[in-house]
Amino acid sequence: MLIDKFDRKIDYIRVSVTSRCNFRCLYCMPNTPFEWEPKENILSYEEMFEFLRLAIDEGVRKIRITGGEPLLRKDIDKFIKMLNDYNPELDLALTTNGYYLLEMAKGLKKAGLKRVNISLDTLKAEVAKKIAQKDVLDKVLKGIDEAVNAGLGVKLNTVVMQGINDNEILDLLEYAKNKNLTIRFIEFMENERAYPGIKRVDSKEILDKIAQKYKFKELPKDNSASKYFETEDDYQFGIIEPHDESFCKKCNRIRLTAEGFLIPCLFFTESYNIKEAIRNGNIKKAAEILKDVVANKPEKNDWQENEVSTRAFWETGG
Ligand code: 5AD
Ligand code: SF4
Repeated sequence: MLIDKFDRKIDYIRVSVTSRCNFRCLYCMPNTPFEWEPKENILSYEEMFEFLRLAIDEGVRKIRITGGEPLLRKDIDKFIKMLNDYNPELDLALTTNGYYLLEMAKGLKKAGLKRVNISLDTLKAEVAKKIAQKDVLDKVLKGIDEAVNAGLGVKLNTVVMQGINDNEILDLLEYAKNKNLTIRFIEFMENERAYPGIKRVDSKEILDKIAQKYKFKELPKDNSASKYFETEDDYQFGIIEPHDESFCKKCNRIRLTAEGFLIPCLFFTESYNIKEAIRNGNIKKAAEILKDVVANKPEKNDWQENEVSTRAFWETGG
């Protein structure tokens, strides 16, 4: 069992399988990074699996595959199948921009994927084009429907930005509500790679906008990063507020990047690399690094102090 210094049980790993992405979202990767990591520095699926098996044996029960855009990495369905075959009880999820779901959702489901979180920041084609810097909305909306059709659990994620999509909060909520999908509004996390001038909208303001039309109550906190709310007509939506005091108290996760960095907290640049240990077949060493990362998990991020992270989100998948 992996338990940190603050008595948080770590049973969730987010695995970024590639830093690359076909979008250039303003809040994440507005400019293409100067250089991509050369292929030989990227862990193979077998290498990632070798490490994840250790983590699963230590009690990890939830694995989320992220990017960049994870559906860009070749044979992602085979990686999912490897994990699912090892432990079919795993809560296997993936976070995607949705662009390739129309082609891939059925295969992912067949490989053992249970759930997808899909980014949806706007319902207007021209706004989507501005945010992702590419004309993406039509494909993403079709991807959402295909994921539902394929039988995957689907949640939607919206990063709310002042003056860009904050006038669409109710429309997005109703789009999700009509499809009976949970949507979560995320406070923008300030980071050095984001487009300068992007401003977050605080959770209170988001909730005020929803309250203009719906009565809702907060639900008891579960083990996820979100707070959930339920409207009078039983629809549930969520808010992710990394700027709130309580956000880190229940954090149950660590992150593995495609280059083998194991990251205890999204905010901080601190990390440990497992690549050498795994490539040398030194499983004992890899297990020690895992224990170290859990032991050194910070108590809280610094967004609560209004700071800006230097970490690139495309390396960690948010
Ligand atoms: N702030 C908040 N959320 C972000 N994401 C990416 N960058 C940021 C940021 N700076 C989220 C997006 C996407 C997921 C991969 O990470 O919602 O859905
Ligand atoms: Fe790509 Fe996701 Fe970053 Fe957008 S937020 S640029 S879709 S990795």
